Order: sequence, then C-alpha cells, then structure tokens
Amino acid sequence: MKNIVVLISGRGSNMISIAQACLSQCWPARIAAVISNRPQAAGLAAARALGLPVEVEDSAGRTDREAYDADLARRIDAHSPDLVLLAGYMRILTPAFVDRFAGRLLNIHPSLLPSFPGLDTHRRALEAGVKVHGATVHLVTAELDSGPILAQAAVPVMPGDDEDALSARVLEAEHAIYPMAVRWMIDERVEVRGRTVRLRDPGPGETGLLLPRSERA
Ligand code: GAR
Repeated sequence: MKNIVVLISGRGSNMISIAQACLSQCWPARIAAVISNRPQAAGLAAARALGLPVEVEDSAGRTDREAYDADLARRIDAHSPDLVLLAGYMRILTPAFVDRFAGRLLNIHPSLLPSFPGLDTHRRALEAGVKVHGATVHLVTAELDSGPILAQAAVPVMPGDDEDALSARVLEAEHAIYPMAVRWMIDERVEVRGRTVRLRDPGPGETGLLLPRSERA
C-alpha cells in the first residue's frame, strides 16, 4: 500500500474526488492524512465524513515561511508518504519543501498551464477572451505552476460565462484528471524527462489530454 498525504486549504472537492476514486477503484494506496493549513477549511469535515484522518498545521500568523514549511514537512513525513498532493492548497511552498518531496509532489491548477499561472485564473481567462480554458495536473518544482505536466483537461468558454459558471465547468474536469494522474503515479507509470512527462504503456485514450465531452472520440 502506498501512502498519500493530501494538503488542502478550503473546500476539498479535489481531495474528495481522489479519496472516492481510491476507494471505489481499490487503489493499492491509502490516504494517510488530509492536512489543512486552515482550521476552518470545509474540506476537513468532508474528509472526516469519509473516515479519513485529518490534521491541521495552522498557518495563521506564521510569517516565517521556512519554519512553517519545516513543521509541515515533519507532519507529512510522519506518514511516510509516497505521494503528497496539493489539492486547493493555497500557500506558496519554500524551495526546501519542494526539494524534500521532489518527484512525489503534485498540484492541480485551474488553467491550461503555462497560461494563467497564479491566482484568479477564471477571471483572467474571461478577461483575456480565450475560447478554451481548463485545468492542469503537474509535478511541483521550485518555480510556481511550471513543473512537468501530467494531464490537462480542456473546457470551452461559453458566451455569457461568468467566473462561477466557468469555474464550475473547470472543477468538474479537475475531478476527472486529478484522480487519473494520481493513479498513474501510484502505478509508477510516469517517466519524466526534463519538462516532459511520458506515460508507460498507455492504453487507448491515455494521452493525458481530456477534451470536452462533445469533442471526445
Ligand atoms: C481548485 O479549483 C484548484 O484547482 C485550485 O483551487 C481549487 C480548490 O478546490 N487550486 C489553486 O488555485 C492552486 N493555486 P477544492 O478545494 O474544492 O479542491
């Protein structure tokens, strides 16, 4: 059994989608801990309801990022993690933290990277007038939102979309690609060469690209 630690800051819907896939597909893995930096994160209650162990490493007032990340890393290490998943974890990580978990640290980002790294991706996509938007699962490297890409999901931007409508469409796609990419990591099918990710023995359709329903073969 591989150990997964999930870091959240809020609602935790990606954490839930991974936990449900792990259980329903009988992954050779378990979620060893869900850790939030915010005690009031709604995802904590959702994790508890799923029977997952939860912890809080409160970041309020912790201005020394090195010290905070060292405490967080110790908490994570206590679970001997094979994978550490950022799932709506909204703090920028220190290089020491990223180094410590290099190669087993994944993030989901709500845009088609390298477009719109950082915050407010849906608002910025609407302002930019793009016709296609989406989400990206990537390995985390020291540079923000720019590690090797495992999977991307594209969604259309529809006339009349506001941020809520667009973010809901993207979130649904996130829930499809994050569990898929995590499973690839659990099964050790991911090969990284520089910035490029290759999947070992890809099955039909296992391209790492998820298209809108209407575009799928
Ligand atoms: C998701 O849309 C995720 O992509 C985004 O936060 C949301 C968390 O939702 N992550 C980032 O913006 C990271 N920079 P969730 O708590 O329901 O999973």
